[in-house]
Amino acid sequence: MRRLQHIGALLLLLLHSQRAYSDLNVQIGDAACPPDSLTSAGKAIAEPLMVFYKQNQTEGIPGKLTDTWYVAGSMFMTLIQFWQASGVEDYNSVVQHDLMFQAGENYDFFSANYSQWLGNDDQMFWGLAAITASEAGFPEVSGKPSWTSLARAVFNMQVNRWDETACNGGMRWQIWPYQAGYTMKNAISNGGLFELSARLARFTKNETYAEWAEKIWDWSATTPLLNTNTSTWNIADSTSNEANCKDAGNNQWTYNYGTYLVGAAFMYNHTNGSAIWLNRVNNLLDSTFTRFFPAAYLNGTVLSEVACEPILSCDRNQLCFKGYVAMWLAFTALLVPSTSDRIVPKLQGSASAISKQCSGTADGMSNLCGVRWYQDSWDGSLGLEVQMSALGGITSNLMLLSSQSPQTISENPDASEHHIDTSDDEKDPSASDPIETGDRAGAWILTAILAALMIGAVAWLLKTQ
Ligand SMILES: *[C@@H]1O[C@H](CO)[C@@H](O)[C@H](O)[C@H]1NC(C)=O
Ligand SMILES: *[C@@H]1O[C@H](CO)[C@@H](O)[C@H](O)[C@H]1NC(C)=O
Ligand SMILES: *[C@@H]1O[C@H](CO)[C@@H](O)[C@H](O)[C@H]1NC(C)=O
Ligand SMILES: *[C@@H]1O[C@H](CO)[C@@H](O)[C@H](O)[C@H]1NC(C)=O
Ligand SMILES: *[C@@H]1O[C@H](CO)[C@@H](O)[C@H](O)[C@H]1NC(C)=O
Ligand SMILES: *[C@@H]1O[C@H](CO)[C@@H](O)[C@H](O)[C@H]1NC(C)=O
Ligand SMILES: *[C@@H]1O[C@H](CO)[C@@H](O)[C@H](O)[C@H]1NC(C)=O
Repeated sequence: MRRLQHIGALLLLLLHSQRAYSDLNVQIGDAACPPDSLTSAGKAIAEPLMVFYKQNQTEGIPGKLTDTWYVAGSMFMTLIQFWQASGVEDYNSVVQHDLMFQAGENYDFFSANYSQWLGNDDQMFWGLAAITASEAGFPEVSGKPSWTSLARAVFNMQVNRWDETACNGGMRWQIWPYQAGYTMKNAISNGGLFELSARLARFTKNETYAEWAEKIWDWSATTPLLNTNTSTWNIADSTSNEANCKDAGNNQWTYNYGTYLVGAAFMYNHTNGSAIWLNRVNNLLDSTFTRFFPAAYLNGTVLSEVACEPILSCDRNQLCFKGYVAMWLAFTALLVPSTSDRIVPKLQGSASAISKQCSGTADGMSNLCGVRWYQDSWDGSLGLEVQMSALGGITSNLMLLSSQSPQTISENPDASEHHIDTSDDEKDPSASDPIETGDRAGAWILTAILAALMIGAVAWLLKTQ
């Protein structure tokens, strides 16, 4: 037994060392086979992604990863997009089940298991996963609310939290007053809700969402979260209520730009080509190119998370951003056709780079991707986040090739919107009744145990006398 295992391990080692130098062999620009080489690259990246997904699930709860909740939502968003662009159905049933499972008891992605520590941005990402399902024509789950209805529930809960008490509006980062970050407004919560609103508007053709998209954009542009007054537009990561949203935490992150850019692209398309939205798209596209495609990498064609990638200090959230942005750039090219010529080379260059970077092997897995797409060989980072990000980069190219635009209700009438009652779901846990039902049950048991102990003690005393 032992011996065989050793031989097996040796064989594995040999196989791995052979594969260590092979890349994904993505052939960009070769008219004969790009979709095939991209599809097989996507499959090769998705395989270890799903291994990490299973390993990292908390106590086997579908769609709940240890120490994070929203990352699984953004992974389902990515896998749905990959399915639409490639036709690879391998993960559809798990995505369908686990995404619906995390919609929670009330179908609003606000399960009581997690709601006490969530930020607006966490819930928002699940809303994006749900609207992605509608736009992709992802199969609905029979007997459950439509994907659009789930996205709508997230939208409605979030706009109810629109905060006029400081800075004349805006979404706070965190939901509850006891959380650090409650007194802050940030780009991803606002840009994310803006994107969700714009996508709901285009999908449903319901103008309520378009009005909110306008409102969130307009408010953002009064703050450093969306500074349109400088020649290169700037998106700061956060601003504080205390300073009346005049100050800026100016870290530069790809996904903040991505949300405002793609939301503007959806609004441009939804309005049948408004000049105002076109101008916004073009300005944000320029900023995105300037900041996140350094000239040093393949002549400015490789997307880079410049704030953390060079020193390999990206946290698990930051490792994910580029994948979202690649897919949002592809949407922009599809929905605003005049931008396509500028976007295509950037996404192709990124895919060629990903092809080389995803050559890592470890723990019996191959095609592991690192974080520095521009580097010719694997940089050693490993896990669900980097794998998902690379899959987003490959998927973005498949989106361009398949030219499948996000659908609307006309093409996907099964995904019509319905009301989900969320009125009781939003109670501040710290402000609720002093004793919750659960605690009360606990208190009852404690009393019972104490009583039993006392009876026992009395009986013992009586006996020993
Ligand atoms: C997730 O999976 C990776 C790869 O197996 C492992 O290194 C990491 O410790 C896991 N993280 C958690 C939180 O379980
Ligand atoms: C909430 O937690 C319970 C207990 O761990 C678990 O059984 C249930 O599946 C969880 N629900 C969600 C939506 O994660
Ligand atoms: C449009 O969306 C809003 C917000 O979800 C909803 O209240 C309203 O009922 C919707 N209108 C229609 C016609 O579905
Ligand atoms: C940009 O100009 C607008 C309109 O004058 C103003 O409301 C906004 O505060 C300015 N933005 C910044 C970051 O200064
Ligand atoms: C866009 O064009 C369609 C079809 O001509 C029309 O039904 C729709 O009302 C237009 N939308 C806007 C916002 O102008
Ligand atoms: C909206 O998107 C569709 C699908 O990609 C595209 O054919 C159409 O030209 C776009 N509309 C405008 C006004 O550019
Ligand atoms: C590098 O990119 C610029 C545009 O950003 C382009 O004009 C130039 O031709 C490219 N150079 C090479 C060698 O591809």
